[in-house]
Amino acid sequence: MSDILNELEARRAGARAGGGERRVAAQHKKGKLTARERIEVLLDEGSFEEYDMFVTHRTTDFGMAEQRHPGDGVVTGWGTINGRMVYVFSQDFTVLGGSVSETHAAKICKIMDMAIQNGAPVIGLNDSGGARIQEGVGSLAAYGEVFQRNIEGSGVVPQISVIMGPCAGGAVYSPAMTDFIFMVKDSSYMFVTGPDVVKTVTNEQVTAEELGGATTHTRKSSVADLAFENDIEALTEVRRLVDFLPLSNREKPPVRPFFDDPSRIEDSLDTLVPANPNLPYDMKELILKVADEGDFFELQEEYAGNIITGFMRLEGSTVGVVANQPMVLAGVLDIDSARKAARFVRFCDAFEIPLLTFVDVPGFLPGTSQEYGGVIKHGAKLLFAYGEATVPKVTVITRKAYGGAYVVMASKHLRADINYAWPTSEIAVMGAKGATEILYRDELGDAEKIAARTKEYEDNFANPFKAAERGFIDEVILPRSTRRRVARAFAALRRKDRRMPWKKHDNIPL
Ligand code: HXC
Repeated sequence: MSDILNELEARRAGARAGGGERRVAAQHKKGKLTARERIEVLLDEGSFEEYDMFVTHRTTDFGMAEQRHPGDGVVTGWGTINGRMVYVFSQDFTVLGGSVSETHAAKICKIMDMAIQNGAPVIGLNDSGGARIQEGVGSLAAYGEVFQRNIEGSGVVPQISVIMGPCAGGAVYSPAMTDFIFMVKDSSYMFVTGPDVVKTVTNEQVTAEELGGATTHTRKSSVADLAFENDIEALTEVRRLVDFLPLSNREKPPVRPFFDDPSRIEDSLDTLVPANPNLPYDMKELILKVADEGDFFELQEEYAGNIITGFMRLEGSTVGVVANQPMVLAGVLDIDSARKAARFVRFCDAFEIPLLTFVDVPGFLPGTSQEYGGVIKHGAKLLFAYGEATVPKVTVITRKAYGGAYVVMASKHLRADINYAWPTSEIAVMGAKGATEILYRDELGDAEKIAARTKEYEDNFANPFKAAERGFIDEVILPRSTRRRVARAFAALRRKDRRMPWKKHDNIPL
């Protein structure tokens, strides 16, 4: 009996050794943890249940019969994050560069199937040279199987990708279809074709980091949500993110103990909005002052800063926040901010996370680059996303809500449930100056007359009351009591039941 047990232990040790000491040392030298070390950081201590530790590939071509490693370059299983279940796969770069064979992919597919069936998130730690070259089309087919599960699992269980090494070619499309992508600075990259191919085809000279590093994808392309200094920071932040998310679309978001008075009054908010409507202020201050314990998990922080997206908690329950940021481009809506916010709104709706929207928006950004870039279609994404979202929606207008952007930003007309406005709100078709210039074009030469006309327009529309008279605003609230009002609004919406007409799926303008 002890021989059998010893053999099991010896086999387990063989699998745990990955690609061997030399390759593990090379991994560490690059500042990267190994696949198993990453799992240890990600999951609660001792919670990991591993599957398929002894799986090996079946390829014999190109001398592969001699290159069999138990586990075949990926560690898979489930464990817990703060006591809540998650499935994990972690690619092992020390084994054949973490390359994806048929069996490697089958291991990933197995835990994805379990996650979808059992209702728990999938977290993929990606560190791979891509399709295993020795397997040819077999490995492409295997990737296809992973892609299909990404699609089937979308909106069913949260899917999170952490890019912790290479991720190139068609391999990028699996993370691309997941809900969140985190990257590690200087040690990860994602691109469809690498620098050499780029040089040959387009004659551009670019490094891997410039082409697809963490900074590129969090600032320029928006492919990734967040970038971190190292593996440990990235994995710790995944734990923090998971704490905000429901395990599946069959569950409500988690409710955590909270130690912050939901009726907390914030006097400083009464003076947040400057007297001069053209001066900016930091919308994040409002978000942090409303959130339980000032805890806000911001996504896509480095991209389209004119809109803020992320998670907070109110009375312990997760709430998705979308807010215009007057500090960046005056909080205008444009292609990038509309796309960013629309995807976030859709994630929240898919997973029953209520939406809180803070509005200070002067309109859509004008110009040829926006029109040629399709701002009509991209802006419509956000409009569509808000209108189709059936989760509880609470909106607070702090200052400007002009034109189409007023309607887009979770207005009553898109079935927001509770719409509040601060007394500083200006809800109108456009700003007073622009309106006067159009309405009184003939008087433009007479500065005094125009000033009087502008004042008249301001007196009429630069306030929340015209909208409140129509019932488009449910209540004009004191800024200092925003946390209490919003918390009470969501509390009143806990049993909301709203459904859209039956359809196979909608046709959101992509
Ligand atoms: C088989 C691979 C491999 C792969 C790396 N290795 N990628 N084996 N298939 N795709 C092996 C290497 O041979 C090496 O083995 C070990 O992993 C470590 O690789 P190194 O090259 O020594 O590491 P490094 O210098 O860090 O370079 C990493 C790398 C490079 C940039 C990823 O390995 C590379 O360019 N690999 C090929 C990438 C590629 O073209 N993949 C296919 C992309 S197309 P030894 O035994 O020497 O240690 C694709 C399509 C997916 O993926 C389509 C989905 C639909």
